[in-house]
Amino acid sequence: DNGSTASCTWQGKTFVITAGPTREAIDPVRYISNHSSGKMGYALAQAAANAGAKVVLVSGPTQLATPKGVQRIDVETAEQMLTAVQQQLTDCDVFIGCAAVSDYRVEDIAEHKIKKEQNSEPPKLSLVQNPDILKTVAQSANAPFTVGFAAETQNLKENALSKLQRKQLQMIIANDVSEPHQGFNSDQNSALILSKDSEQSLPTMSKHDMAVAIIDAIAKRYFDTSN
Ligand code: CTP
Ligand code: CA
Repeated sequence: DNGSTASCTWQGKTFVITAGPTREAIDPVRYISNHSSGKMGYALAQAAANAGAKVVLVSGPTQLATPKGVQRIDVETAEQMLTAVQQQLTDCDVFIGCAAVSDYRVEDIAEHKIKKEQNSEPPKLSLVQNPDILKTVAQSANAPFTVGFAAETQNLKENALSKLQRKQLQMIIANDVSEPHQGFNSDQNSALILSKDSEQSLPTMSKHDMAVAIIDAIAKRYFDTSN
């Protein structure tokens, strides 16, 4: 800890944080997923716990150890992630959606391994849209202070601001995932922290340092606006 967040800042408050990828089955041996490592979400969970919060981490499949003092709930699919998150909402002051949720899932999961038929057309996957977990939380009754991420490869600020508005978030962390050695699976990150009326740019730093900076930025706004 670099000392910028006192260990009692978030005493008595509960964070629910999603992290990692989701995994959507095609058949019993195959799935659709993405390159998220979970590192940023796990770093946020650790930083919030270090700052005194109770932290529930709802995690897709990752290779990471559970951060110290954090309660972890493991899920695979977007639908399971939504259900797990909703079960935590009765006690949630801050929600951070850091997971790389699969936007689509396979409409009909094959019961058995799909076989390679000779001389026939390749199978076509029919996809349906997954629920938007972040938007569902932000628009729920008694919604917590809701923070999203935006992974973009172009028009970073514009795309992130439109997500902030569309999903009715209090804050969004915009990541340019087209920059090399950043974002997905990397140890480093740079970001733009956007809210309705403020903007803070974070230079390239470790995900650990970025997590501390993000938890600090949330504290500044949270304790400003909530009575
Ligand atoms: N998110 C979510 N549930 C989904 C999709 C996204 O909770 N089904 C959350 C992510 O955790 C992230 C934010 O929404 O905090 C933005 O994710 P992103 O993929 O950048 O945005 P989308 O709204 O999915 O739009 P698109 O992928 O088209 O850019
Ligand atoms: Ca998406």
